[in-house]
Formats: sequence, structure tokens, C-alpha cells
Amino acid sequence: MKVITVKNQLEGAKIGLDIVSEKIAAGAKTFGLATGSTPVEFYNQIINSDLDFTDKTSINLDEYVGLDGSDEQSYRYFMSQHLFNEKPFKANFLPNGKAADLDKEVKAYDEIIDAHPIDLQILGIGQNGHIGFNEPGTSFDVTTHVVDLTQSTIKANSRYFANEADVPKQAVSMGIASILKSKTLILMAWGHEKAEAVKGMIEGEVTESLPASVLQQHDDVIVIIDEAAASLLN
Ligand code: F6R
Repeated sequence: MKVITVKNQLEGAKIGLDIVSEKIAAGAKTFGLATGSTPVEFYNQIINSDLDFTDKTSINLDEYVGLDGSDEQSYRYFMSQHLFNEKPFKANFLPNGKAADLDKEVKAYDEIIDAHPIDLQILGIGQNGHIGFNEPGTSFDVTTHVVDLTQSTIKANSRYFANEADVPKQAVSMGIASILKSKTLILMAWGHEKAEAVKGMIEGEVTESLPASVLQQHDDVIVIIDEAAASLLN
């Protein structure tokens, strides 16, 4: 793991943009994307750059079950607002949270990932060490799957909803095995509340109790963190 500690999110987002530029120059075609607060400044940097994505494909990590892409709380809507409306891509894939047959949907999503190998995957990290919606205890061998969200994730994500009760209880998420297929991964984390998970990911044992620790087993991972998120590192 290459760990880059920066002063703040803006500095980290600019480093992320530089890496995207390098990957595009080297021929990258497919970008794995995340939602949440972590990549928002990074997406702003992309929007304000002159990088062209009209021949690139994006594949997002996850989507809530039960929400249509036009629902303001859906991850597709989030991505449209924060990136896609301003920076058009050739194709933007997210799981269909409204799919009638979720078993079929997860298989179809794995096929999409296999047909478009991800050159660069962007990740955030949950306070409990989750990546995508792979909560502690998720097997490292699982590909795209339907996840029952933990109470801590429902609570953390309730900030985007009027009530905690409105947060969907399930999501479709790429699995750890799908995520590890990406050629290069960038994980970003900002703030004290991520410090413990970041420490476990970088310095702890590789364990399914802290899903992000699996990144120690991938040979091209760049971790970009601010000083607060890095504050517990040795
Ligand atoms: C989002 C995702 C999640 C988030 C994580 C951190 O697509 O897959 O793993 O990256 O929950 O969320 P934020 O960035 O809101 O702290």
C-alpha cells in the first residue's frame, strides 16, 4: 500500500485527479466509482478539469435496493448530481436497485464488471472498515451480492434522509472479490472519525472483521488520507 498523507481533502482530491490523468494517458478506459461524502471534492476536481470521459465507462460500487435512479436518495441520482451531469461518460453502470429479480441483477452486474475490467477503482471507507457495502464479517470471496445493511451504516447514512426509518435496509454491492479485480485502487479518507478504520486497514491484521484490511493483499493500492484520518498511524 502506498500511503499519501495530505493536509486536507482539497489537496487529496487534487492528487486523486493527477492519478486519474496519468491513468487516462496510459489508456485507462473504465473507472470504478463510489458515492458518499468522501469523493465529492475529487469529483469537483474532475468536473473542473479538461479531462474527457466521453469514451470512458464508469461502474459504481453499489446502490440501495428499492430506490429508482430518479429518487433523490439513490446513488444513481447522487452520481448524476455530483459528476455525470457535468462530465459525460460513454456509459455509467450502477446496480438497478429496483430490479424485480435481484439474483439476476447481481449476476448481470458481475458480467458487466467482467466485460469492462476496472482500471482504477475509487473507494471510501466506513467507520467500521466497510468498503462498498461489504460490512464486517463479509467473506472476501464474494462478488456482487445483496447486503443487509448494519444498524451503524443505516445510522451513518441517515444524514441524507429525512428520517432514519427511510434509509433502505438493503443494498446491492460489488463484493470484495469484485473490488480486488481492479488494476489500481485509490482509497480516500478524511477526518478523525475514519482514523481507527484507517489504522486497522493499514497496520492491522487482514481480517474479514475489517473488510478494508484485504487491500493489504492487492499490489496496487494508493491510500490518500488527511492528517486527522492518519492520526492513529504509527
Ligand atoms: C459508497 C460506498 C461506501 C462509502 C463509505 C464512506 O459508494 O461504497 O463504502 O465509501 O460508507 O462513506 P462517506 O464517504 O460518506 O464517509
